[in-house]
Amino acid sequence: MLEQEKAEFRSLTEMVQRARHRLARGEWDYLVGAADTEASLRRNRAAVESWVFKPRILNDVSTVQVESELLGSPMRIPVILPPIGSVQAFDAGGGTSVARAAQDFGILQILSSACSPDYEAVAQGVPGPRIYQLYLVGDNAWMDDHIERAIAAGYTGFCLTADTQVYSRRERDVLKGYVPMSGRTATAAGDFSHQASMTWDTIAHVKAKHDIPLVVKGVMHGDDAKRCVDAGVDVIYVSNHGGRQLDHTLACIDALPEVSAAVAGRVPVVVDGGFMRGADVVKGLCLGADFVGMGRFEGLAMAAGGYAGLMQGLKILEQEIRINMALLGAPDLESLNPSLMQRAQPLAESGVLSAFPLLEDY
Ligand SMILES: Cc1cc2nc3c(=O)[nH]c(=O)nc-3n(C[C@H](O)[C@H](O)[C@H](O)COP(=O)(O)O)c2cc1C
Repeated sequence: MLEQEKAEFRSLTEMVQRARHRLARGEWDYLVGAADTEASLRRNRAAVESWVFKPRILNDVSTVQVESELLGSPMRIPVILPPIGSVQAFDAGGGTSVARAAQDFGILQILSSACSPDYEAVAQGVPGPRIYQLYLVGDNAWMDDHIERAIAAGYTGFCLTADTQVYSRRERDVLKGYVPMSGRTATAAGDFSHQASMTWDTIAHVKAKHDIPLVVKGVMHGDDAKRCVDAGVDVIYVSNHGGRQLDHTLACIDALPEVSAAVAGRVPVVVDGGFMRGADVVKGLCLGADFVGMGRFEGLAMAAGGYAGLMQGLKILEQEIRINMALLGAPDLESLNPSLMQRAQPLAESGVLSAFPLLEDY
């Protein structure tokens, strides 16, 4: 009943307002913050806002098809829930609540190894297809053991995050001495030596040894995308970690066309970074992605109301995607292409919450 009440927001603006209201300053800053000057974060948003639609008219949009499939799992909308470390800081249900919402709504979740409950407990609570993202805090034998256990627990994909070979300086956290919940234990004490020594050999090792689709997250360069596909990587994930790792990167939506051209349709391409609204998702798809990841959206929805908040957020997001596609004259995912887009001057200063200009007014 309480969950029901919490989820009664009518718009994504209200969802963000509730999240802000429920979170303490430390958790809020951990969620919305980024590395160093937060330029990568602002640039992600600025670039998403710099693309505008050139709609087509007189296409029959009485039905709009948005369903597809990823790694054998049906996807109700072309959106994936990215790995969020310490997601239990936003709602006590943590990874299990995200898993349940992903499953009940009908999309895939990538569960982070830096959150709780852990991957085996989540799989036990909510059996079903899911991808496991593992930060390496041990050698190849340690990794192999976890991959085998993930496969035994029913995971249908394995993800390595390649943009986090060292941990960045997140100034909001540094200034407050804030340590993210899961950072208080595991990868915790800051043992990044195994992440730091991850190489193309790690990819070759996983592909040679394990029968599970491999996602490489953090691809920002066409040459790396091509090398991943040549190495047998099954999903290319364009990301700058939401601006939380290397500062001053290219915006992810701007890295997308080069990556998409290098991949040339051989495997699915996911993009994340600054996507907050249905229209943003449609922009990512037009520019070459098959799926869009929405990290802070996931965290904000969880903070707004846990499982019920995420369900409600996804339902509103679906409406926005469908309405935007219909108004763009695109009856299905195949109709989305770069000819429907053009660059234009952003309307206002971009920031992590600039997708919600009415936040202060209501
Ligand atoms: C609070 C938070 C925790 C995150 N933890 C992880 C993580 O454990 N593993 C990972 O690969 N990415 C992690 N990310 C990055 C997200 O998976 C995703 O790439 C990013 O949020 C996308 O940008 P967006 O927030 O603008 O959508 C985290 C992001 C946030 C906001």
